[in-house]
Amino acid sequence: MSPVLVLNGPNLNMLGKRQPEIYGRETLADIEAACRTEAKGLDLSLDFFQSNHEGALVERIQQAREANSGIIINAGAYTHTSVALLDALNAAEKPVIEVHLSNIYKREEFRHHSYISPVAVGVICGFGGQGYLLALRAIARLVSR
Ligand code: DQA
Repeated sequence: MSPVLVLNGPNLNMLGKRQPEIYGRETLADIEAACRTEAKGLDLSLDFFQSNHEGALVERIQQAREANSGIIINAGAYTHTSVALLDALNAAEKPVIEVHLSNIYKREEFRHHSYISPVAVGVICGFGGQGYLLALRAIARLVSR
């Protein structure tokens, strides 16, 4: 089976330093390592990618159509702004799970709307880095169907 893609958007490379009271002290490298351990237990292979650039994320999602079995995405602030990411995810025709470290519904109103959710099988938010591991468990079932 082709790898699951874990995709991270803008400012998520700053995890650990960035507003730790909201996002925690785990770095993106810590999250990647935890994802790789979880994926091994689930018999999944993983591609892990982060970019601060919307176009780079669109291009990686386009590649996923051929290269990946499913997509776990934390699009960061592009969640709330990007029709381009929504279109790319729709064109990929793969199961998508949306993840956020923070509970976006507990925060400012502009974070309550997601352009990603209409294409997602489900959304996990508010559990910090553990959300990625929950998403891996969920996607393992979706891609094995
Ligand atoms: C985030 C929530 C977004 O609103 C924010 O812009 C982020 C991170 C999260 O993981 O909680 O960059 O996606």
